[in-house]
Amino acid sequence: MSESRTWIEADLIVSGAGELLTCARTGATSGARSVLGVIPDGAVAAHEGRIVWVGPTAGLLEEVRLARGGQTVDADGRVVMPGLVECHAHLAFAGDRSDEFQLRVAGTRYQEVARAGGGIMITVHSTRAASDEVLRALTRKRLDYFLRFGVTTVEAKSGYGLTQEQELRLLQVYRDVGAAHAVDVVPTLLAAHTVPLEYLDRPDDYVKMVAKKMIPAAAKHKLAKFCDAFCEQGAFTPEQCRRVLEAGAEHGLLPKLHADQLSYMGGTEMAAELGAVSVDHLDHISDAGIAALAAPVGGKRVPIAVLLPGATFFLGEGGYAPARRLLEAGARVALSTDLNPGSSPTANLWLMATMGCSQLRMTAEEVIRAITIEAAAALAMEEEVGSLEVGKKADILILEETRHAEIPYRYGMNPVWRVYKEGNLIIKRDLAAEV
Ligand code: NIG
Ligand code: FE
Repeated sequence: MSESRTWIEADLIVSGAGELLTCARTGATSGARSVLGVIPDGAVAAHEGRIVWVGPTAGLLEEVRLARGGQTVDADGRVVMPGLVECHAHLAFAGDRSDEFQLRVAGTRYQEVARAGGGIMITVHSTRAASDEVLRALTRKRLDYFLRFGVTTVEAKSGYGLTQEQELRLLQVYRDVGAAHAVDVVPTLLAAHTVPLEYLDRPDDYVKMVAKKMIPAAAKHKLAKFCDAFCEQGAFTPEQCRRVLEAGAEHGLLPKLHADQLSYMGGTEMAAELGAVSVDHLDHISDAGIAALAAPVGGKRVPIAVLLPGATFFLGEGGYAPARRLLEAGARVALSTDLNPGSSPTANLWLMATMGCSQLRMTAEEVIRAITIEAAAALAMEEEVGSLEVGKKADILILEETRHAEIPYRYGMNPVWRVYKEGNLIIKRDLAAEV
């Protein structure tokens, strides 16, 4: 009988997981959305960088055969789960704003700093002055940080250049660094991040330039997948953002939006109308905005709600996004670090999961989905990454923890033991040696 059996060939097998979390899309509809797909004593097999089998370790030997030269890894009771997906990050920038942080600690608000010529513009200044080489090194280092935290896919926004030449340069940095780094880098053009000094008294002219020149140029050179804008007082109005995102869509760049972060602006409703892939921040979202993100009626794309509790935490002005109300309305919620020099200088996505629980009142299952499959959906990459399912990239983590409830619990720590990127061992952490 065994002669006629068709074996599944694998070059990597991870077995003996205390809990294997598939984070699969199956069952991810309405009420069942929080399901993590926990397989006790689970195993996953991969071949040539793709997942070929997932199930209980007991069933593995019946179906999967290790290819010559392949490797079996015993997870020894640890949690095995998909590589994390960071769906909102600002990577290519120079300088730091630690002095601004102290100003804010002393009572100056984030937008007051910006109005006085500080904030984003300070970073624009140092970024423009930095060489390509310096920006590449800084970007690489930030990706290294993410990878050590088990993040295997990272979105990367431009936005600290604000001229055509400089914005395209940042996107080129992402292309160059991404091509040589284990982490998958997903580039986003955020030319509408703030109005540059040169256009301060004529923001509409800047918007026009972004729409008519920068977007076509970025699209022509295939430098970005997404187009984003910052809809906020002191940045851009919903109408201006609409012009930017519509121009992006015309050139094949999928829309995203920084919406309702520091004040209610109506950006969420506008972005939902445009069929944006995600709307991000949402600390001041309205009831109408929540309704616009609720479960779809009639197949229209509904944006993923990307919440960035680290930015709320670090700004210290209060007002976390209403995650529970969003989830109860049927919205899909992802979490992200928002890594950037002003409002969230961290690459610790696990910490966002903890804040998701303690500040946003999300469950352990909801926050784990929010940094894997929901974050993948926020990058329109649900078919590729974010879950352990046959056919997807073999981006696999083995954690120190043995139960998923421990993931958001031990906060500010790094639970990563091993990181596999497309089937290759990339990070091996020996905690005993680190202490
Ligand atoms: O996502 N909101 C706009 N952009 C960033 C902050 C950028 C900065 O302060 O440099 C954010 O919070
Ligand atoms: Fe941001």
